[in-house]
Formats: sequence, structure tokens, C-alpha cells
Amino acid sequence: EQIMKGEYDHFMLKEIFEQPDSLLNSMRGRIELSASSVFSHVPTEEIADGTGGPGKKTTPKQVRFNVPSFPRGLDKPRIVLGGLSEHLNTMNRSRRLMFVGCGTSFHAAVAARGFIEEMAEIPVDLQLASDLMDRQCPIFREDTCIFLSQSGETADTLQALRYAKARGALCVGVTNTVGSAIARETDCGVYIHCGAEIGVASTKAYTSQIVVLTMIALAMAANKNDKAARSEEVINALVSLPEIVRKALQLDKHIQSLAKELYEEQSLLVFGRGYNYSTSLEAALKVKELAYMHSEGINAGEMKHGPLALIDSNLPVIVVCTKTDAVYPKMVSVIEQLRARQARLIVLCTEDDEELISQKDKFASLIIVPSSVDILQPVVNIVPLQLLSYHLTVLREFDVDQPRNLAKSVTVT
Ligand code: G6P
Repeated sequence: EQIMKGEYDHFMLKEIFEQPDSLLNSMRGRIELSASSVFSHVPTEEIADGTGGPGKKTTPKQVRFNVPSFPRGLDKPRIVLGGLSEHLNTMNRSRRLMFVGCGTSFHAAVAARGFIEEMAEIPVDLQLASDLMDRQCPIFREDTCIFLSQSGETADTLQALRYAKARGALCVGVTNTVGSAIARETDCGVYIHCGAEIGVASTKAYTSQIVVLTMIALAMAANKNDKAARSEEVINALVSLPEIVRKALQLDKHIQSLAKELYEEQSLLVFGRGYNYSTSLEAALKVKELAYMHSEGINAGEMKHGPLALIDSNLPVIVVCTKTDAVYPKMVSVIEQLRARQARLIVLCTEDDEELISQKDKFASLIIVPSSVDILQPVVNIVPLQLLSYHLTVLREFDVDQPRNLAKSVTVT
């Protein structure tokens, strides 16, 4: 087991740190760049050229651009998803896109929903698999149902798939497990290819699911001229995403010290909205399932409808407020309202946010992440929060990879 964990103490930590590679693997063979593609979201790093050293004259530094190479050729970049190519027309003609999953897989759909609506221009519905079955939700032949599952074996999701199939909907699988029940029983699909995930709490599968859903949205919009500029922006941001995530992982030491301030708390709230509502849900799930600390992901748009009553100067509150979002001004106002109530704020912002960074002293803590494009920012934002749940769990001395009462794959309903 230790051999499989390599230099890491736990599978979860290894899987968090694998994300630059697992994200790249999810995109490999699926992106074709245009001859003129440029990368606006690439972090650059100055490195010594290796000829310096003690006693030697310092040599000029080089700038390293670590953008993975993808084939170039067409006049515009495009996404190639072999498993869906024959079904994209049917998907584009469907009257509703319904995303179905449980746990973290459901949160990936929450993250991608806005972009899928933007690109497909079809109503998008999100369903927790168990709830869909409890309600016997109406499903029609004109629907496309997309089943998200890392394992491909979750009983609730599989049951919902059989239910949708019996009603004639086109059923698409997005799973990590080749040959799994969901992969076999869907009409078509896309593997996320993030590699085996062993830690019970999902980490790298979540970020790869968001990337694959983003690619599905792009593939659906491939023939829409009015979406070409936006598509190009997002495809270029996908290509630079692994490096941005690698940079976000450098926050590990900072997050470890934040965890030392928080690990004896009983509760932790996480506020987000827009694309990052998903970040708040997923961060809270990680904290509760691993660190056994009460945690709630809250849509900041609902703050005044209840959650504000919880706020005092003791309860730690993480606020995801990244400048790339259209909801950024609203989140800044959320921070102001929370500050007016002396909330103990941990603010997550982007590194170009001079305004919030200059107010550092007014917050209990500040987590500064690199920027991506709006719809991929949740992939970056979750990284320090995955690390936070990891360090909280280690400090609370619980089992990181095997949390009590939980299973990696829940095969009973
Ligand atoms: C379990 C796991 C979670 C996972 C969920 C859905 O609860 O502990 O990490 O998100 O199942 O699993 P799936 O394999 O369907 O994505």
C-alpha cells in the first residue's frame, strides 16, 4: 500500500496532488487547437538556468511556459469526444438536459450547469439520483439524461439510469470506470480518465468531471458561430488549467497553518454563489465526511433568508469571492454584510484582486488562488479547500482514506 501512496501519507493527498496530471489525462486526445491559439491564463515562473550556484555569478533567469502540447491545425480550436460524436445532434435537439448523480458527482454538475446552459441553450435540470427516484420524476423520449458517477456502480444512479432508459430518453454516461455498470448500460458516454481514485472522498474525479462536462458543452456548441469566441476562450483556458492547478497546490503549507487555527472548531460555513455555489457545497461535504466537523455549503444569494442568523464572531466562515465571476460584486457585498456582523471571515480570492488583498488585516485569513476563466475557476478554488479538509482530518486524528460509516462506492439504495 505504501508503494502505491509513493511519497504521500495518504491516498487522498496523493490524489489531490495528482490533479495537474489527471486533468491533462481527461483532456488528452480530445482537444485540437487552432494554429493561432494563445494562452491568456498561463502562470509563468522564473527559473534559474542551472549554471549558477555557490560562488558562481548569478545567471539570467529563464521563463518557463508549461503549456502541454495539443495538436494544432484547424482555423478554430475544437473538442473531439469520440464517444458522443454520433449523438451530439440528438443531444442538441433534446428538449431538456438532465444531469443525475450523487455526492461529489452531483456537485460537478452544479459547477458546470451555467456553462452548459450558456452553450447548449436548452433547459438544464440537475437531479440527485435518490430524489429523482423518490419523486418518480417525469422523463420523456425527448430528454437527454447524463449520468455522472466516478465508480460507475452507485446503486441510486444506476437505478435512475434504468428508469430513464425505460422512458426512452437518450442516456449518456460520464464515469471514470471502464466497463462499469453505468458505462455498459448507457447509450453512449465519455470517460473522465482521471486514473484510479482510492481515497473514499472524491477529489481528482470531481475536477475531471467538471472538465469533461465543460468539454461536452463545448462539443454541443461546435457549430454555433455566435459561440465561437467564447469557445476559443474556454478551450485555451482548459489547456492552461493543469499548470494553474499546479500553482494552487503550492498553497499547501499556508492551508496547513489555517487548519491549525480551525481544527478544534465545531462548525464551518462555506459561502459561494454562481459557478462557485458548487465550491461551497463540495468544500463543506469534504469537511463533514472526513473531519467529522459540521459544515454547510450555502448559496450566498440565500444568506439573508436564514444563514445570517448563525453569524457571530466565533463561527468560521469561508467566503469564495473570486474576481473572475460575474457575481463578484455581489460576493464583495456579502463580505461587507458579514463583516458588519463581526464574522470570522476566511476569504478566498484571486491573486489579481488588489482590493481584497489590501484588506487582508480585516479578515481572519486570506486564501489567494491563481485565476482561470470564470467557468473553470471552481476547479482552481476547490484545491485549497480539499487541502483544508485533508489537514483538518489529520489534525483531528481521523482516518483520511477510510472515513467511518462511508464507502467508496455505495452499491445499495
Ligand atoms: C460515495 C463516495 C463519494 C461519491 C459518491 C458518488 O458517497 O464516498 O465520494 O461522490 O459516493 O459516487 P460515484 O462513484 O457515483 O461518483
